[in-house]
Amino acid sequence: MTRTAIVTGGSRGIGAAIAKALQAQGCQVAATYAGNDEKAAAFTKETGIKTYKWDVADYEACKAGVAQVEADLGAVDILVNNAGITRDAPFHKMTPQQWHECIDTNLNGVFNMTHNVWGGMRERKFGRIVTISSINGQKGQFAQANYAATKAGDIGFTKALAQEGARAGITVNVVAPGYINTEMMSTIPEKVMNEVILPQIPVGRLGEADEIARAVAFLAADDAGFITGSTISANGGQYMT
Ligand SMILES: NC(=O)c1ccc[n+]([C@@H]2O[C@H](COP(=O)([O-])OP(=O)(O)OC[C@H]3O[C@@H](n4cnc5c(N)ncnc54)[C@H](OP(=O)(O)O)[C@@H]3O)[C@@H](O)[C@H]2O)c1
Repeated sequence: MTRTAIVTGGSRGIGAAIAKALQAQGCQVAATYAGNDEKAAAFTKETGIKTYKWDVADYEACKAGVAQVEADLGAVDILVNNAGITRDAPFHKMTPQQWHECIDTNLNGVFNMTHNVWGGMRERKFGRIVTISSINGQKGQFAQANYAATKAGDIGFTKALAQEGARAGITVNVVAPGYINTEMMSTIPEKVMNEVILPQIPVGRLGEADEIARAVAFLAADDAGFITGSTISANGGQYMT
């Protein structure tokens, strides 16, 4: 059976690798993005995966976006909540705007998207929700009180919702990446990367987006129905829970 998947933030970085992995697994995939039309167009050209622009922080936009994907591709079976941002600052310098932007995209975005596919999944008695958290939601990180709060929130959200979805054939899981080689990493100064981050990773390198996509594709598969409420850490051994 062909499954339909939405990957938020699926036009580049980890999300693009996830979208491609689900396509390779036989799914019809819709990849969403926020504003980078150029990257999205290049991604569609490369992969044939349709891209859709809306802000996951906007509930009504998510509702309309999901309806559009369902009109184009059919009912959504798989949702990957991948869209995320950082707004780093030590807490004493963190502005309310930095706090709220992070919460609105990373945490409210997960609610907005999941809430808009949940009813259909319950009716059809099948669903796969995978949310991309972070090692920094598991262990905390200096200058990321906002980001860590959202990424820890993903895990609590998942454990609660997994209990609600269990009898309806819906699994709800988290993948928590460590440091992955994407544009998000380009905001980290080279000195911090070489002297602080890399020495903390036992495998001695950043992860690749494909290595996260592999874990997501595993959880999204039809035969992963007994795995729910779990967090798969993919962090090169940096933090073992
Ligand atoms: N990279 C890492 O090392 C790492 C580690 C742990 C966890 N993560 C998590 O993994 C996920 C993907 O990270 P990444 O490094 O691949 O990020 P990225 O390269 O910065 O890509 C982010 C994607 O999310 C989209 N996006 C951002 N805000 C959005 C919004 N409000 N509405 C809709 N789409 C939005 C972007 O769209 P545009 O292209 O239009 O901007 C883009 O497609 C995030 O949740 C991140 O927190 C990343």
